[in-house]
Amino acid sequence: MQIRPRRNRKSPVIRDMVQETKLGTENLIYPLFLEDGVGIKREISSLPNNFRWSIDLLLKEIEECIDLGINTFDIFPAVNENLKDKLASYSYASDNFYLDAIHQIKGNFPDCVLMTDVAMDPYSSDGHDGFVENGKIINDKTLTILGKMSIAQAQAGADIIGPSDMMDGRVGFIRQELDRNDFQEVSIMSYTAKYASAFYSPFRDALDSAPKSGDKKTYQMNPANKREALLEAQLDFEEGADMMMVKPALCYLDVIHLLKENFDIPITAYNVSGECAMVYAASQNGWLNYEAAMTEMLLSIKRAGADGILTYFAKDFAKFCKK
Ligand code: PBG
Repeated sequence: MQIRPRRNRKSPVIRDMVQETKLGTENLIYPLFLEDGVGIKREISSLPNNFRWSIDLLLKEIEECIDLGINTFDIFPAVNENLKDKLASYSYASDNFYLDAIHQIKGNFPDCVLMTDVAMDPYSSDGHDGFVENGKIINDKTLTILGKMSIAQAQAGADIIGPSDMMDGRVGFIRQELDRNDFQEVSIMSYTAKYASAFYSPFRDALDSAPKSGDKKTYQMNPANKREALLEAQLDFEEGADMMMVKPALCYLDVIHLLKENFDIPITAYNVSGECAMVYAASQNGWLNYEAAMTEMLLSIKRAGADGILTYFAKDFAKFCKK
């Protein structure tokens, strides 16, 4: 035999030297859930190991993560039902606890990168990402609300705005609103190819944000479609997205690869709640090795082409790397 690929696998040092994909804590973005109050750390039953925090304890958690090498965070608010309305008006209210928390996090940790979520669902009495009228999502009226939300988050100190709503034209609209208000330096990481997925349920449990009626299929993409992701990406790119995300990650590695090959801006992927929940559940049963499965999953998302990965594994992966 002239060629024996196994020679390049014969020892840990050789394997490390020729490893094609490397993953470090600098690639990870940690999604965290916030609720109003003090002294709260409430585990999410369908997402073990993840919590709803009040800001006092969240600040401590973020400090621990920074010590472990995680420096980018995406915060999601769990909003009390009585603050929700059809227009999601609490999302940009001056006494909003989420905006206050953004301000406090950036005040305490000015060097961390803070991403915020732009979509109506956590604040909407309909539980939808867009404004609902007669059972329909009204796209262009939603844009106005998303614009206000983005400005409020930028004012609070957000470094990256993450529109997760999948309305048409929102990236361009948000960019224009940010620039008009002198927030040229605030970035947009758009949820470019966000699929109508079964893997979001633990997240919706965490925030009590499931749609009150219907589903999200008129705005989130059909899992069967790939070329449509190119159209979404073309639009977001032209409208000024700084980074483009594919969500979920695992069932859509081909889409991550496709966007990476076609667009010269960073591509990110959201390793969503249901994907992580599968690994937690199987490892709690002793069916999978937690650290090995988590690492393989993250590595495969990076290998497919993701520069950054949003993942609930971020802290555990960082701890694992330290060992
Ligand atoms: C909603 C939003 C969702 C997630 C992030 N932002 C859920 C949805 O679209 O219903 C899901 C994230 C996850 O499952 O981890 N704007």
